[in-house]
Amino acid sequence: MAVRDLDSLLSEPGVQGRRVFVRCDLNVPIKEGVIRDTTRIDASLPTLRKLTAAGARVIVSSHLGRPKGQRNEAMSLAPVAAVLAERLGCSVDFADDCVGASAETGAAGLADGQVLLLENLRFHAGETDNDEGFAERLASLADLYVNDAFGTAHRAHASTAGMVPHVAHAAAGDLLRGELAYLNRLFEPERPFLCLLGGAKVSDKLGVLEALIERADAIAVGGAMAYTFLAAEGEAVGGSLVEPDRFDDARRMRARAEEKGCRLLLPSDHIVAASVEAADASQTVSQIPDDALGFDIGPETADRYADEARAARTILWNGPMGMFEVSAFASGTEAVARAVAESEGLSVVGGGDSLAAVNQCGLGDRIDHLSTGGGASLEYVQGLTLPGVAALDAAAEGTS
Ligand code: 3PG
Repeated sequence: MAVRDLDSLLSEPGVQGRRVFVRCDLNVPIKEGVIRDTTRIDASLPTLRKLTAAGARVIVSSHLGRPKGQRNEAMSLAPVAAVLAERLGCSVDFADDCVGASAETGAAGLADGQVLLLENLRFHAGETDNDEGFAERLASLADLYVNDAFGTAHRAHASTAGMVPHVAHAAAGDLLRGELAYLNRLFEPERPFLCLLGGAKVSDKLGVLEALIERADAIAVGGAMAYTFLAAEGEAVGGSLVEPDRFDDARRMRARAEEKGCRLLLPSDHIVAASVEAADASQTVSQIPDDALGFDIGPETADRYADEARAARTILWNGPMGMFEVSAFASGTEAVARAVAESEGLSVVGGGDSLAAVNQCGLGDRIDHLSTGGGASLEYVQGLTLPGVAALDAAAEGTS
């Protein structure tokens, strides 16, 4: 990887007194103006602290949600400015637009070591369209560029890719580099290499399943996507969520896994109920009755998956094993979370729901790496090029 790192930018050309545009992923859950989880803000602090300590004039930018090119106050980054200020221990100015007069005045008024947060980049369609003119306007705010938005590195947007050729120097922040360093270890894993994949849909995980079958020793499937695999083999799944148009893919993947010697593990028991509302009357079954839906892996499956996790030397986990936000359906995901935390091998967990589950169990500090990027980490581990990283690569090689 040719990507330039932050420390090299600090030493040459140096950042003292220079305006540095930092693309972060501060896409945090906000309800009624209150930030519900600050993980992504906290993960961005090391890079921001290094820059302010070195006397940079720091311009922080991010998207929040998907406002589709329209101003939408519910997706304003304003609440993030207050948290950033508190965490950084300095005042953080807020520009109510990411381009134009307020951004330009805010950037021009920065003193050494001061921080300005720009309003949501996606209030302009030019961001997601990767519009050249918009990218140039962003680039004109600063002298140097740092991308620390790992969670958005799989998007070819103006702030992650388009503006990079328009800045004199571009580097990866510490968060982005740390993420890549951990994820790179999954390409030459210590064995056994176990992948725990959950979530609702096979279609969301098709690419990563196909790629991991080639590399993993075992893939344990949970969440509703397991029902598609079971139904494709003619097993009873009652009214569980399935994707009939993915049955062929599911069968093909099972066949490929067998060819490659990768054990594709599926649930052998389930926690079912007549509906989410009937969670209090849930039952454990080995065959799902016609009038029930599966909402979690059963205890026998949870034990099997936990044993696999404890024995693994490398674990990648993405996606919950069941509808863990409902307590009656949380035990499978919690058992897996505990086993991943107990494993002595390298553990990497990605995806908002899996992180929430790990944190819900208070196990966050026992996982080797909690990835801030769900979609980005899945794309990276399947070997796809992340446009945000490719742009930095090209800049380092002088080809951007
Ligand atoms: C995420 O939450 O996965 C990232 O912030 C990317 O957001 P996006 O899927 O809306 O591009």
